[in-house]
Amino acid sequence: MNYRHAYHAGNFADVVKHLALLAVLLHLRKKASPFAVIDSHAGRGLYDLRGEAALRTGEAAAGIGRLLQQPAGLPPLLEYYLDVVRAAGDGRYPGSPWLAAHLLRDSDRLIAIEKHPEELAALADVLSVCAHTRAVAGDGYARLPGLLPPRERRGTILIDPPFEKDDEFARAAQTFAHCYSRFATGIYLLWFPLKTSAQAESFMAEILNCGVRKALRLDIEVAGAGDGEKSRLRKAGLVIVNPPFGFDAQMQEAGAALADRLGPDARLSLVWLAGEGL
Ligand SMILES: C[S@@+](CC[C@H](N)C(=O)[O-])C[C@H]1O[C@@H](n2cnc3c(N)ncnc32)[C@H](O)[C@@H]1O
Repeated sequence: MNYRHAYHAGNFADVVKHLALLAVLLHLRKKASPFAVIDSHAGRGLYDLRGEAALRTGEAAAGIGRLLQQPAGLPPLLEYYLDVVRAAGDGRYPGSPWLAAHLLRDSDRLIAIEKHPEELAALADVLSVCAHTRAVAGDGYARLPGLLPPRERRGTILIDPPFEKDDEFARAAQTFAHCYSRFATGIYLLWFPLKTSAQAESFMAEILNCGVRKALRLDIEVAGAGDGEKSRLRKAGLVIVNPPFGFDAQMQEAGAALADRLGPDARLSLVWLAGEGL
């Protein structure tokens, strides 16, 4: 386990993923009934944008750094996302567990799983001041299905592995299949790096093979994503299974504004894989 998210936190792919997560959380908050958020690969929760790792790759500067410099007048979802990022503190970038914890109501809860001991310790520290949250040690692939369905019978599941091993596309797809068989009404967000289109297509096929009725694919591509030797990622995707009503239009609007501000070469696309817009 060499992967450390601190090198990549706040990059173009992270901000799109977190914007989508925020849109889902805001949707879940529209109903009074409680919801659960489960993050299978949670990371440390909060990242230092002035730390050695962030400065080494320059990815955050080319991502969230550009967005924070922009004037007002952005679509409401993007504006709200940037307010949440600012609320994390100057020079800090909130990861998915922090973002979720920030949006929980008293009746909702977050379970955040992390395998790496140092990341887990940092995560536990960050979540220690957030009510209704739990940092769990272990393998997210193995632990996630057992947590489903959540007792609330409503919620979102983020599957966001590091993809540092060759079998991680297969493990993510298998884990999703197991989860979906236990909780088919959950809103799933599956992040993936877009290395080859064949790999991405076969990942999509495995997800659709589970009998998914509603799914969207969101791709983001940026040519200049950072200068360091560790910044090789140029394209990434997100599959959203059971996206909430109106999510596509909201992400299209906020995502277009976000891509615009990431740079002239940034492209974002949203495609229905199953259901609604097909
Ligand atoms: C891409 S990062 C997560 C970023 C986080 N979800 C966010 O958006 O802020 C992936 C994390 O998974 C952790 N990890 C690696 N293998 C894991 C596993 N099998 N189970 C749980 N966590 C794992 C890594 O230590 C790393 O912190």
